Amino acid sequence: MKDLILVTGGTGYIGSHTTVELIEAGYDVVIVDNLSNSDAKVLDGIEKITGVRPDLEILDCADYEAMKAVFVKYKNIKAAIHFAASKAVGESVQKPLLYYRNNLGSLITMLTLMSEFKCKGFVFSSSCTVYGQPDVLPVDENAPIKPAISPYGNTKQIAEEIIRDNAHAGASFNTVILRYFNPIGAHPSAVIGELPLGVPQNLIPYVTQTGAGIRPKLNVFGNDYNTPDGSCIRDYINVVDLAKAHVIAVKRLLEEKNKKNVEIFNLGTGRGLSVLEIINVFEKVSGVKLNFEIVGRREGDIEQVWANPEYANNVLGWKSETTVEDTLLSAWKWQQRLSGK
Ligand code: UD1
Repeated sequence: MKDLILVTGGTGYIGSHTTVELIEAGYDVVIVDNLSNSDAKVLDGIEKITGVRPDLEILDCADYEAMKAVFVKYKNIKAAIHFAASKAVGESVQKPLLYYRNNLGSLITMLTLMSEFKCKGFVFSSSCTVYGQPDVLPVDENAPIKPAISPYGNTKQIAEEIIRDNAHAGASFNTVILRYFNPIGAHPSAVIGELPLGVPQNLIPYVTQTGAGIRPKLNVFGNDYNTPDGSCIRDYINVVDLAKAHVIAVKRLLEEKNKKNVEIFNLGTGRGLSVLEIINVFEKVSGVKLNFEIVGRREGDIEQVWANPEYANNVLGWKSETTVEDTLLSAWKWQQRLSGK
């Protein structure tokens, strides 16, 4: 019998790609999502790629009774991957309570039910945002946690603390915390990808929408940073590579290979690219000239951050594989599909 994995936020960007990889690795998946920032149509895409349509329960993960009913209905959930969270940095500044409620309420509900139903493993989506602007680059997992700049970032820091405190108190399951750098790109089939609602806040969907003529121009937020070309540097990680790390984490937890109750891994490529370098690569792989303008800095932006992924490479046994060229091409193909090309 296949092991059943609960994926909260499974219709979202990273959740949907991870669901595909879980199914392809031989797991059964049940998704819980309130569709607040996603569309149930993604199930068609998942089914097209894998031949399997995972069950979807539409509810809010912070709702204890509703979540409990899912654990009762599916009985033998072995592990959970908890993606469900609000993630817009700017919105979190405007609506902090919404962010604390959604992101921490859902986490507490999940941790409670994991113990009640004796599940074996929990995988949590965290972010490199916990490092703020690191003093040393590339940044490894032992780098100090810096004060959060936004309520969103704070929810990730507090969530990690809640997980640690709960483990310390003797939780019956183990956890893998994955700190993502900047996930980008789409499934190579171009059947699933990122679906930003409204005007994208993140760089890559803005780049591809500008390339497709949906946006007149891309604003580059600052060229006066202390970096080689003056624009900010990030570690852009392919979303399918990222999804595969979750499958490895689940396997590790189910096989009890983890060395501690809570393990933390950076998920990045180990390479930093500037905004201008990203534009350059995008133009090269798409053959489209991008209309962009250098504007002022965006408030709250970190100057530069990229991962030291050695711990994930050596201990988790995961490595980013896809080149940034192939990743940006996948994002472009997905955009063209969305634009009906
Ligand atoms: C942000 C969050 C991160 C979160 C992620 C996904 C911070 C510090 N980080 O990452 O925690 O997990 O979003 O939601 O808030 N850029 C432009 N023009 C644009 C858009 C972006 O120049 O139109 C630049 C930004 O200044 C930045 C880079 O592109 O240097 C990447 O930006 P973005 O994709 O928004 O990701 P982060 O801000 O790194």
